[in-house]
Amino acid sequence: MNPPIDLLLRNVRIVTCTDDVCAITPPAFVAIFGGLIAGLGPMTQLDPDAAVVKELDGEGALLTPGFIDCHTHLVHAGHRAREFEMRLHGASYEEIARAGGGIVSTVRQTREAVPSDLMAQSARRLAELMAHGVTTVEIKSGYGLSLKDELKCLKVARDLGQRLPVNVRTTLLAAHAVPPEFAGRADEYISHVTQHIVPEAARLHLADAVDAFCETIAFDLLQTRRVFQAARQHGLPVKLHADQLSNMGGAALAAEFGALSADHLEHVDEAGVMAMANAGTVAVMLPGAYYFLRDTHVPPIELFRRHGVPMAVATDCNPGSSPTTHLPLMMNMACTLFRMTPAEALLGVTRHAASALGVLDSHGTIELAKAADLCLWDVDHPAELAYAIGASPLRARFHNGRQHPLQ
Ligand code: NIG
Ligand code: FE
Repeated sequence: MNPPIDLLLRNVRIVTCTDDVCAITPPAFVAIFGGLIAGLGPMTQLDPDAAVVKELDGEGALLTPGFIDCHTHLVHAGHRAREFEMRLHGASYEEIARAGGGIVSTVRQTREAVPSDLMAQSARRLAELMAHGVTTVEIKSGYGLSLKDELKCLKVARDLGQRLPVNVRTTLLAAHAVPPEFAGRADEYISHVTQHIVPEAARLHLADAVDAFCETIAFDLLQTRRVFQAARQHGLPVKLHADQLSNMGGAALAAEFGALSADHLEHVDEAGVMAMANAGTVAVMLPGAYYFLRDTHVPPIELFRRHGVPMAVATDCNPGSSPTTHLPLMMNMACTLFRMTPAEALLGVTRHAASALGVLDSHGTIELAKAADLCLWDVDHPAELAYAIGASPLRARFHNGRQHPLQ
């Protein structure tokens, strides 16, 4: 006799996200065992004699894969509301950064914060993301910018994954900005990153990937290449903040290193898009940053479609350019601002977000033997998830097969 099913979800309409149109199944069941999806099929095929520990009637609600936010900077201290005011008075994001504000001002606050404080501030943001359906989140460092403080931030990120019912993937973003003690010596800072920070984060297994900010106000192509070479040497996959404010050729460089993703991409050109297509690099769309910085350069969605580059959608949760913890709102913005379709937006926070993190084998779709990370929504049609502005129709959220109360 088979062991009993841990949890049986009955009467759900499933959007498996395995196809490109986000088709809905007829009323179906999902059987969960050992935290994994152990069975699924139409209600008509459910064995009435199956032994079940617990069951839940979905009453026809819509079941999707748990949402994956594949790009966040949620571990940081403080906020930058003052810079928001300055920008509203006409200062640009770049001007503020060059005047010693921007990323470096969050670095100051993050360095000062003791781990327990950093943990408490970050946990609040993570709980908000989870309340909107997130079951896997990527968290970058990048507000420490010293060996000690980058490791501190990565440890806080890992600890968050232990304390809260969510799957955390960490990314080392030591090459986010030049820290004050290296002012005017970006190359030397990159040497410090490649010789000390990347090796130590790898040795301590604190980073699942390495990222960099390739931009006129951050690091150039050569410096980014050095970071990627160090990552490769230590067996870590790469990602890149690429072509956000200008066309630096970042996407092509990311593709050359087989990057999991290139993110932002407002200014990428067709050659960069084609290189990404050849390398299987996911394009991560961050409409929150586009909106908040009042950008006008829409990323070339049509080129991504034409060349078959998968598109993910993420919050970019950070204090400077995208202070949001609402992933469904980002789906709405991806549609209204970038003209993605609601189905593309949903795949962008499920299947393609999983690819952007290198976890598609275990997450991102509803399929046999994948993690039972699931969201049950009070909506009729998946397009409603992108259509509603700032709504939260989440009825239930499951992580590794266990339901957790919504906040
Ligand atoms: O993804 N582009 C670089 N990093 C962040 C902004 C960080 C900040 O301003 O604090 C981003 O937009
Ligand atoms: Fe970012």
